[in-house]
This record gives sequence, structure tokens and C-alpha cells, in this order.
Amino acid sequence: SDTDKGTYPYYMLKEIDEQPAVIRRIESKYISQEGNVHFDEKLLEQVSKASRIYIVGAGTSYHAGLVGKKIFEKMTGIPTEVVLASEFAYDDPLIEKDAFFIFLSQSGETADSRQVLVRVNEEWQKNSLTITNVANSTLAREAQFAVTLEAGPEIAVASTKAYVAQIALETLLAVAIGRYNQRDSALHFDVAGQLSRVANAIQTVVDEKSQIEKIAESNLTNTRNAFYIGRGLDYDVALEAALKLKEISYVQAEGFASGELKHGTIALIENGTPVLGLITQTKTADHTRSNLEEVISRGANVITITSEKLQRDGDNIILPEVDEILTPLVSVVATQLLAYYTTLQKGYNVDQPRNLAKSVTVE
Ligand code: G6P
Repeated sequence: SDTDKGTYPYYMLKEIDEQPAVIRRIESKYISQEGNVHFDEKLLEQVSKASRIYIVGAGTSYHAGLVGKKIFEKMTGIPTEVVLASEFAYDDPLIEKDAFFIFLSQSGETADSRQVLVRVNEEWQKNSLTITNVANSTLAREAQFAVTLEAGPEIAVASTKAYVAQIALETLLAVAIGRYNQRDSALHFDVAGQLSRVANAIQTVVDEKSQIEKIAESNLTNTRNAFYIGRGLDYDVALEAALKLKEISYVQAEGFASGELKHGTIALIENGTPVLGLITQTKTADHTRSNLEEVISRGANVITITSEKLQRDGDNIILPEVDEILTPLVSVVATQLLAYYTTLQKGYNVDQPRNLAKSVTVE
């Protein structure tokens, strides 16, 4: 059943493996046979006239928001900001008249996010949507609209399938809004076909997990620190990849924009420091490659995670091709598995990392 880990040693691995099915379940719930995307008409009407969209989240949900921003802007043309709930709750932002707020929260119970929603409702009086895995949660009830992730219960503290589900939902919503506003970028995007490709690509990655296990064992299990680097969407994934690695394996991991390394962080590179490069974006692939060369010359141990069409000899993890805007859904899975196996090899409890809770209801 959904809350039984069956033959899996840990929920996290079960939840990683479920991701292709999660994508397919989301597709069948939100996309019709004819390829139309279904959301409440009133929701689409309201978001489509927004002058600015705010995406609010914490932790992994915030990272899903970073990816969502790029998808929203491409599909809808509406300027989109992503904010950390714990910061935004006490900032003094200039909120424009037609702002629309989207809350991302697996649990729907995060106090930091709720604090922002209280301001949205009482102080700013703006329209809002919660995207959550828990239909009757506080954030779902208190926002004007709510849609569910359809990820099934996520039990491991480290979030995996909820992140992937959040990005899939953001994609569907962005396409629906873009189509509502007759935007070519959304009208011409075959969202059903592209998400199906993503589901297949994720399946390939999870089927090849033993290779990722070996890479974790020889590069991450015995390190004190590690860096994930990338540009654009790859940078967004680098942040989530680093969070996953640090929260369960306790490796001090950081995600960096690869062009920023030379402005300071490169000082931390020593002989053998693992640097994991994410390369899925054509526009920036060569730049990230040269940033990797820079760290190699300082002794770094470079591991590459690249999409098929950008792969080169000697690359380590090759991801099946999907539309470039959706690569985070695939690349993140490789990084989830790296975190999982590193933790397993270190002998820690994967599902119950120290000091962490699945849902945090204090500010
Ligand atoms: C906790 C969890 C994280 C999660 C964050 C936000 O810190 O340990 O995994 O990303 O809360 O949770 P939410 O339920 O709002 O997505």
C-alpha cells in the first residue's frame, strides 16, 4: 500500500522509484485525451490577468519554485518571483495591485508559509493558490484555490517525489495560463507528450541506480564536503541536490552558480574535493565545462551529470533527452540517488535524519 515500504529498505528509495508513476498520475488527472489541461476556470481567469506572480515556499518546495519561475515566465510571459517564506513573512515588499500568490507546500502545514498567507489574506488582500500534497491542509483551506500534487504520501523526511510533482504541476499550470492568454510558447508546447518523455527518462535513471551507487561510493561516501554547480535551471537543481546530500548524509554540500565559483568559492577547492557539474542547458554547457576545467586544475574530483545531446567522453551520469525546460525533473533524480546511496554507505538512517522534521509548524 501507499504507506507500506514493502521490500524497500527505506521509504526514500521507494519514493524515488515511484516518480515515473507520479508524473503519469498527474498527467491523467490534469490532462484530457485531447491534450487539454484542466484547472478551475476561475483560477485560470485570475492568474492570467496577474501582473506578477509570487511563488512562496520553504526548503525543497522553495527549490521547486525556482524552477517554476523559469517555466512560468516562458509559458505565461508574466513576471514571476520566488520567495523564501521565512524571509518574505517579515519583509516589506512592494506588492502591486494585480499580484497573484502561489504557495508550494508538500504538507500544507509549514508555519513560515502560512505566515505569508496570513499577510496575503489580511494585509495585502490578494488572490492565492496552494499547490500541496495534502488536500485538506491548512494552506489548502486558507488560500482561495487549491490543487493537489497526486504524489501519494511522502514519508521519508527528505523530499523527493513531491519536488518532482510540484514542478510537473507548475508546468501544467503555466501551460494552462499561457494557453488561456493565447501565448504561442504554451499553445505549441505538447505538455502531455513532454511529460510522458520525462516519466520514461526518470524510469531510465532509476533503472540504472547501481551505476549511481558506485559513483556515490567512490566519490562521496568518504568526503567531508562537496559542491554541485550549474547555470540557469542546472543551478536551481544544484541547490536542491546539495540540500538533499547535506540533509541526510551530513556531507557539507553547497550548490553554486558555476560562474560564481571564481568569485570566491573556488578558494575551497582542494585535492580531491568532489565537484558535481550539472550540464543540461545548451546555452551554458560550454561555460560550465570551462568552470569544471578551472576546478580540475585546482585538484577537484569532477563528476558530470549531463543530458545525452550534451554528453562528452568521460562524462559520468548521462540523462535521457527531454525538453530543455523540463530537465530538472530528470537530473534531480540522479542527485537524489547520489544522496541516498552516500547516506546508506555511511550507515545513517536515510528516512530519519538527525534534527529534522517532515513538516515544521513553528516559525
Ligand atoms: C521541512 C522538511 C523539508 C521541506 C520543508 C517545507 O523542513 O524537512 O523537506 O522541504 O519542510 O515543507 P513543505 O511541506 O512546506 O513543502
